Amino acid sequence: MTETTQSAATPAGIIAKIVPPPAEHPPREYGRAFAPANIALSKYWGKRISALNVPANSSVSISLGHLGARTHISTLKAGDRDEIILNGTRLAPDSDIALRTASFLEEFRRAGYNYFFRLSSETNLPIGAGLASSAAAFAALVLALDDLFAWNLDRRRASILARLGSGSAARSVYTGFVVWHAGTAPDGMDSYAEPLDSDWPELALGLVIVSSRRKHIGSRSGMEHTRSTSPLYAAWVKQAESDFQTICDALRKKDLTKLGETAEANALMMHAAMLAARPPIIYWSPATLRVIQQVHRLRREEQIPIYFTIDAGPNVKLIFEAQQSAAVKRVFPESEIILPGGEPAP
Ligand code: PMV
Repeated sequence: MTETTQSAATPAGIIAKIVPPPAEHPPREYGRAFAPANIALSKYWGKRISALNVPANSSVSISLGHLGARTHISTLKAGDRDEIILNGTRLAPDSDIALRTASFLEEFRRAGYNYFFRLSSETNLPIGAGLASSAAAFAALVLALDDLFAWNLDRRRASILARLGSGSAARSVYTGFVVWHAGTAPDGMDSYAEPLDSDWPELALGLVIVSSRRKHIGSRSGMEHTRSTSPLYAAWVKQAESDFQTICDALRKKDLTKLGETAEANALMMHAAMLAARPPIIYWSPATLRVIQQVHRLRREEQIPIYFTIDAGPNVKLIFEAQQSAAVKRVFPESEIILPGGEPAP
């Protein structure tokens, strides 16, 4: 088992380091922002500092263009709890999403921004597609707070704040290809995301949704369980750091074979580490494996260069270049094709 570090830093302490003093920044009428979802090509599954969502290894993702969360936030004049509205419906205060959002906002209160908020978020992500909607949600929330209080944060600092809500949200404050550095600092201040210099607008993703049921084990506890019980965890972290370098290089060179083969192996090893946890974590369904086998058959028998990645759920994300879209639709007619570089964020 690889240990996580106990850090003296707390989320509120990090917030106080990043945002300016509250007295100098009274709230405006409202703040708003959009942030895209992202899919990791080289993944994060395990933390170096749990309380701060600092990852054990670096990762790289592609942001989903116009697919994400748009958030509108204002302070409440009266009341003693946050009001959270998702896609037009007010959430029960004890629902998972409301609790998680309110506990994130609580860290800002601890850091001196002593307000309760009304937050309304709309998402255009395909429902139940296993897209990490929390990444877009926390990134949009941080950017909306930045707008509300006129902090004028640079993206690097916004990325650190978003990370405190959900690790992968660190990558959602940017469009395009994004690297998230693991960092080595005891307070995680060097664990932020930044854009990767690669111009590959033809790179496409295909969402193959095999189930839209909620996952039975969330990423936070799934990662912690893998770290503390899987004999493959240390090997996974080591390999993930190396895959990260390989994939960044493949993205810069627009090398689809290298990207696809490494991204697939990376996702499979992450799931292998979970399968080896005790008791195991199994996110796949039989349909997941059928999609994997179809992708391999397409490459082997039809020489069609399509690859896949899989996150903490049963759904499969295909990786290919736009000229293969017809082949993807033929074999996976239900899939949704996203050209992340093809459409600007709204
Ligand atoms: O940031 P979280 O807690 O939603 O975890 C994300 C985990 C994966 O999506 C499986 C991998 C990744 O790097 O996004």
